[in-house]
Amino acid sequence: MADRFSGKTVLVTGGAAGLGRAYALAFGREGAHLILADINEDGMIETRALVEGVGGSAECHRVDMSSEADINALAGKVLGGHERLDVLINNAGLHLGEIARGFFGLGQAKWQYFFAVNTIGPMLLAEALRPALAKATGLIINKSSMASYNPATAYGITKASLNVFTHAMALQFGSDGIRCVAIAPGLMETEAARGGVQDDNWERLKGMQMVKRQGTAEDIANLGLFLASDEGSFINNEVILCDGGNQMRGFRI
Ligand SMILES: NC(=O)c1ccc[n+]([C@@H]2O[C@H](COP(=O)([O-])OP(=O)(O)OC[C@H]3O[C@@H](n4cnc5c(N)ncnc54)[C@H](O)[C@@H]3O)[C@@H](O)[C@H]2O)c1
Repeated sequence: MADRFSGKTVLVTGGAAGLGRAYALAFGREGAHLILADINEDGMIETRALVEGVGGSAECHRVDMSSEADINALAGKVLGGHERLDVLINNAGLHLGEIARGFFGLGQAKWQYFFAVNTIGPMLLAEALRPALAKATGLIINKSSMASYNPATAYGITKASLNVFTHAMALQFGSDGIRCVAIAPGLMETEAARGGVQDDNWERLKGMQMVKRQGTAEDIANLGLFLASDEGSFINNEVILCDGGNQMRGFRI
């Protein structure tokens, strides 16, 4: 399995923690060069050290994905340093404590920030990096959520909108041979996910899974590896759930 991504470049937003760090380690282990982009610089530096520890290489770039200027500056640096980008993982995202509640009372500024980071930022970054993705006939992975299938929460609405973007992006970027898919995780063990769901609700949601074990960040990273590999190269325009079958029983707020 080793070295499937040797000589390839993979950009992971939100690479400072959680699922983003797991992608970085998984691709780094298999020889990819990682471009980490996150608002959390200390976390990225830790991830870079971990990637180097498994024999990979990584560079860090601070970006606030809610800022178009930041996104364009990041893209400028990436295009300046890399002719081709094989995989863009639009993983950065936040729940603002709104995973398990309705959506009233947020106010326009919070809605706009939510959409800027979770929905619009991924599209703007892909658009800005298009030349390098095209050169590599690359892959864009958007990070959706199981919550997008029952978008009765503000968080779910931003992720359902990202699913729509994923289909639109597959069509628009497809003329350059670039694929676009989304991964929709269920309840995966990360600090952020734990912080967004109260303990009793966590157990209830986990109990809805047909696979009776805790989902891990590595489950998601492994799916990313497959989609980016030669074996996954005919998959396009899909939102792929990785939730242990939770969706069948239904995410409930
Ligand atoms: N863990 C889960 O169960 C789960 C389930 C479904 C979807 N997701 C999605 O997966 C992604 C990663 O989730 P996680 O659990 O690893 O969360 P996390 O909070 O551990 O990681 C998210 C990363 O995004 C970064 N980030 C946040 N706002 C940013 C901004 N404005 N600009 C740049 N970077 C920013 C954070 O600093 C962090 O490093 C998110 O998009 C999340 O919505 C997670």
